[in-house]
Amino acid sequence: MVLAQPIYVPAYAKVNLTLDVLSKREDGYHSLASVMQTVELHDTIALRPRPDGTNTCTCDVAELQTADNLALRAAQLLRAETGDRLPGLEIELHKEIPAQAGMGGGSSDAACVLAALNARYDLGLSLQKLESLAARLGSDVPFLVRGGTALIQGRGEHVTHLPDAEPLWLVLAKPAVNVPTPAVFRALTPADFTGDHHTAAVVTAIEHQQPLPFEHLTNALESGVMRTFPEIAAMRDALLRAGAPLVRMSGSGPTLYAPFRQLSDAAAVFAQVRQNSPFVWLTHTVPAAWVARTRPESTPGAQRATP
Ligand code: C5P
Repeated sequence: MVLAQPIYVPAYAKVNLTLDVLSKREDGYHSLASVMQTVELHDTIALRPRPDGTNTCTCDVAELQTADNLALRAAQLLRAETGDRLPGLEIELHKEIPAQAGMGGGSSDAACVLAALNARYDLGLSLQKLESLAARLGSDVPFLVRGGTALIQGRGEHVTHLPDAEPLWLVLAKPAVNVPTPAVFRALTPADFTGDHHTAAVVTAIEHQQPLPFEHLTNALESGVMRTFPEIAAMRDALLRAGAPLVRMSGSGPTLYAPFRQLSDAAAVFAQVRQNSPFVWLTHTVPAAWVARTRPESTPGAQRATP
């Protein structure tokens, strides 16, 4: 008999190394060109089969324990696609990635559930199929199915996996403001559209395995968001004063990241900024192979755990 033991899977955060906004689409979304990168900061998801066949989700952040939780919706979506090949699931979600912070926390939880269940229950869905299911859950979810380094296009559904970008230490800092993503995009005017020049330059460097050109790490949403939320500009200035060579916003914010090649430099900035801000992390980039190693293996007969 197979015991209904949980499996524990990390769901990694992302940063946008670049984020170009090209145009507004007819469906109201925006066409993007962005290089995304997974980082080691992660939530942890425990998955175990439920004998009664239903899906449940508990989360250690009370506000996220809702029927809308993306991890739960990912399990429901996969069940709708694969039918009785998937048992009911109890999902436990331990959050480390702050919610609504521009780091893809909820999106990564969902992507991780899709990828982990596909592997654990031998569902046999290709990565492309998982990415297309993921696009139904949100714009950042497709990339996070596999993670690593990738070029994202369209509204987020076109994912071109790239060779690993130069490994970097990152100091992440989340100012204490909530930035509503739809409002950030709604506030854009054609004058804010950028072309994909910066993203193309970063993609070329990555394809040639060159150091990341820091001058091309840019985010078209950043200046507008900083005008609306001076707290974010203040946090950027604190990181720069502490010695960060570059500070960029991830996604629609408010989280900022500063990249470093040497741990000693990152640690010095981290120690200084942490004195005044509770939400600061010292982390590093993680490549796709690292993410792949954390996905569960299939267990023959795993489905027999559900009566
Ligand atoms: O897809 P997701 O739910 O993550 O997007 C949140 C919001 O961000 C959307 O409702 C939309 O307003 C905006 N958005 C956009 N263009 C994108 C991605 C998101 O306008 N490519």
